[in-house]
Amino acid sequence: MTAETTAVLNAKRQIKPFVKWAGGKGQLINEIRSKYPEGLGKSIVKYAEPFVGGGAVLFDILSHYNLKELYISDVNAELINAYKAIRENVFELIDLLQAYQDKYISIGSGEKKAYFYAQRSRYNELLVNTDSTEGSLESAALFIFLNRTCFNGLYRVNKKGTFNVPAGAYRKPTICNAENLLSISSALKNVKIIYGDYKKSKDFIDNKTFAYFDPPYRPLTNTSSFTAYSQLGFNDAKQEELSYFVQAMAERNAKLLVSNSDPKNIDENDNFFDILYSKFNIKRVKASRIINSKGEARGKISELLISNY
Ligand SMILES: C[S@@+](CC[C@H](N)C(=O)[O-])C[C@H]1O[C@@H](n2cnc3c(N)ncnc32)[C@H](O)[C@@H]1O
Repeated sequence: MTAETTAVLNAKRQIKPFVKWAGGKGQLINEIRSKYPEGLGKSIVKYAEPFVGGGAVLFDILSHYNLKELYISDVNAELINAYKAIRENVFELIDLLQAYQDKYISIGSGEKKAYFYAQRSRYNELLVNTDSTEGSLESAALFIFLNRTCFNGLYRVNKKGTFNVPAGAYRKPTICNAENLLSISSALKNVKIIYGDYKKSKDFIDNKTFAYFDPPYRPLTNTSSFTAYSQLGFNDAKQEELSYFVQAMAERNAKLLVSNSDPKNIDENDNFFDILYSKFNIKRVKASRIINSKGEARGKISELLISNY
């Protein structure tokens, strides 16, 4: 076997997020990858991603490094339930998703809508009628189905806590990517999956840890960003609190990376993050993101990558 073939065989397969997620970092992955700390996979053997969302960075790390311990969390209980279902019951999950996909693709556009709303009602029935959907395979499958077929892959719940995103218009969406789900399932075997606040990561972060914090973005304009991922919003006071938490973790000599929106896209004098993270290195990178719904300032805008290394 040539060295090249061995390298190809040894290379881990690139795994992809299983959901579209608001604020997903797929588009910024090259910039973020270039900010991984030196020593990752050598002296740095742990990874923490306390605001995991769709996990674009998690899956990049899992595809390229063999780390000893990994920890992810999120306050979206249904998302966490889906991660656990993929890890623990991937074959049953694939069967359910394949059945949803076969049905969805075989019917006409009017029926697709009706099917979407019936699935949404069933999902909400499970949400409302049980104390917790934890461990429910059907909830996990419906969560993925709705993400792949709803408008823009958004996750939004109303005051009662029920999912209320309308149907999207897709002809042949991939609802079941079995190969990717199987790769995710085996990659997650070693990952601690926690439902809850990012502060739980204090039990884990130490001087052998790389932690990536990707909180809900600070809105650039009043109408722009979508920060209500769950019923709990993430306002300026919360951004501040997070910066104190990150500073406390820096004292443990962990390698820390934080991303956020750059307020200077709108107001050059807005130093909100420059002040909060004055002891850190702040890199401005370009991302393609739409600032507001009217499409003003469309195109490349700058985002922040903040690190203590
Ligand atoms: C910008 S998204 C992360 C996107 C992710 N990096 C990706 O590539 O998909 C922020 C995530 O933080 C979660 N979140 C909001 N408040 C939180 C909190 N206090 N603790 C932990 N997670 C939180 C949201 O549910 C959301 O999934």
